[in-house]
Amino acid sequence: MSTGECSVILGVGSFVPSKVVDNAELSKKVDTSDEWIQSRTGIQQRHFADDQESTSDLALGAARNAISNAGISTDLIDLVVVATITPDMAFPSTACQLQHKLGLGKVASFDLEAACSGFLYALDVADAMLASGRYRHALVVGAEKMSSIMDWKDRTTCVLFGDGAGAVVLGRKGKGPQLLGFQSGADGANPTLLYQPAGGSKAPASKNSIENREHFLRMNGREIFKSAVRVMEMASRQLLAAHDIDPAEVDHVIPHQANVRIVESLANRLELPIDKFFCNLERHGNTSAASIPLALDEATRLGILKPGQLGLMVAFGAGLTWSATLVRF
Ligand code: COA
Repeated sequence: MSTGECSVILGVGSFVPSKVVDNAELSKKVDTSDEWIQSRTGIQQRHFADDQESTSDLALGAARNAISNAGISTDLIDLVVVATITPDMAFPSTACQLQHKLGLGKVASFDLEAACSGFLYALDVADAMLASGRYRHALVVGAEKMSSIMDWKDRTTCVLFGDGAGAVVLGRKGKGPQLLGFQSGADGANPTLLYQPAGGSKAPASKNSIENREHFLRMNGREIFKSAVRVMEMASRQLLAAHDIDPAEVDHVIPHQANVRIVESLANRLELPIDKFFCNLERHGNTSAASIPLALDEATRLGILKPGQLGLMVAFGAGLTWSATLVRF
């Protein structure tokens, strides 16, 4: 919902690792095909980080671009929030690694975990912290090295994901897209629809957990598909209704980039033409918390988002979590 005047996006940036793996190359090591992946998901290729690149390195590239595009001195940033499910380490946070790598001051820095909804959750949280008056400029990042938790023996999941990062600099005043409101929610009733079984306190790392490949992502794809469409429509409609905006008034939707068929179903349910939806998942796959800022940055650089137009960003993810954000470009 709206909390009165929200923050402004002063700059946006993204970063993807240089290694690109297309479906044909993937088919050499996984029992799959370009035809299957494209027809079921719309994905053609994805970027993968190398062994030396961790999530904070991807976040660093995106953050540098966002700060440069914001045109502000790093001295002014006093809050760092990183949304990720693939942190460099369980702790300390990837945000702390990023703060140090960027050479920021000793400013508040923490990770936020809401899976693929993480970036929009982080915007919601950072906006509220800025609104409190205790922080002036926030660096909000979605960054993932999904390849670090993908099971190459599970063809139903390993073809779907990619690595990357996107970031924004938020401020209370200034030139740039104006955030208008947020709608975040969660339903923790079915955690095993999409999860990483081992490595946490419930099932710490053990010889068995590794043998059973429990440190990799697992997913019930069909159920997630159905839930994704339902909760993204719900969050979008609730947020638009709270602002007395008809869905038809939205100029651009930047959805979480998981599957083009999910995006098409959402467009149908919202009764919006598909050309209002910005998609780049064919080149990146599902980059989880990085997907929306990666898409936002690409759409910005392409000049698609005209000043004065209305944008809706909407995501779903493990949890289940969902989140929607309205923005006036
Ligand atoms: N290559 C070739 N065949 C594959 C395959 C692959 N990579 N993965 C699965 N298959 C096979 C299955 O074994 C199955 O074969 P069968 O009919 O002989 O048993 C068949 O394809 C259909 O599998 P199914 O799981 O029913 O496919 P689907 O149409 O539901 O598509 C997903 C699977 C994962 C693409 C789809 O369910 C999806 O996108 N779900 C949402 C996932 C998502 O967005 N996750 C991220 C959340 S943030």
